[in-house]
Amino acid sequence: MPSATMPRGTMIVAIDGPSGAGKGTVARALARELGYRYVDTGAMYRAIALQALRDGIDLANESAVEHVAQEAVINFEGGRTVVNGHDVTEAMRTPEGDVAAASVARLPAVRRVLVARQRAFGKGGRLVMEGRDIGTVVFPDAGAKIYLDASPDERARRRAADRAHTGSGRTDLADVASALEARDASDRTREVSPLTLAADAELIDTTGVPIGDVVKRALSLVRSRLGDSA
Ligand code: DC
Repeated sequence: MPSATMPRGTMIVAIDGPSGAGKGTVARALARELGYRYVDTGAMYRAIALQALRDGIDLANESAVEHVAQEAVINFEGGRTVVNGHDVTEAMRTPEGDVAAASVARLPAVRRVLVARQRAFGKGGRLVMEGRDIGTVVFPDAGAKIYLDASPDERARRRAADRAHTGSGRTDLADVASALEARDASDRTREVSPLTLAADAELIDTTGVPIGDVVKRALSLVRSRLGDSA
């Protein structure tokens, strides 16, 4: 981690890690506690993927998906994700949304467009951003970098219990586990910005740890970076 403390107004907290590690819950809680903005970059990849599907674009067509990413108006007001006027909050978390998002996230041109948009959110600091490459690529100088992980079994259990992902439908844990494994493999092995642990990130293994304890640990790390004694 960087050793100097950060001026308060420039603090960016980067939260990375694989699916089901608790990033969303922890990042939202941190943003609430700190009074910072929260940005879920996975939702940006998901929104672009859904818009491309709606436009009938082949997700392997890099320049066409890049164009969608350039033109898309994405709105995150009130906990909803709206892209070009279409609310995709539920649709983007289906198994099809998972696969489509992982597919567009492999495209370098799409990543370039979304990374530029993500950096624009960082102007003025006071931001908690979650994703896979926030501490490594988007904000390599982030004031606090946290990498959350958990065992594959625990991540699959959490994902299966997450109604935002499963809706009210029945979910088979083995199906969830194998889909999660496939998507993680895609995120970790892609050529551009694969999921990796930044050298200066704080690794927190959340396996069996109550989420409140993870939030406390993350919060104390950010506060120490800010030079707060609390
Ligand atoms: O965090 P998530 O599961 O909603 O992310 C959706 C997909 O986008 C997933 O395959 C990982 C990918 N992603 C990425 O490559 N880079 C990010 N910064 C965020 C998400």
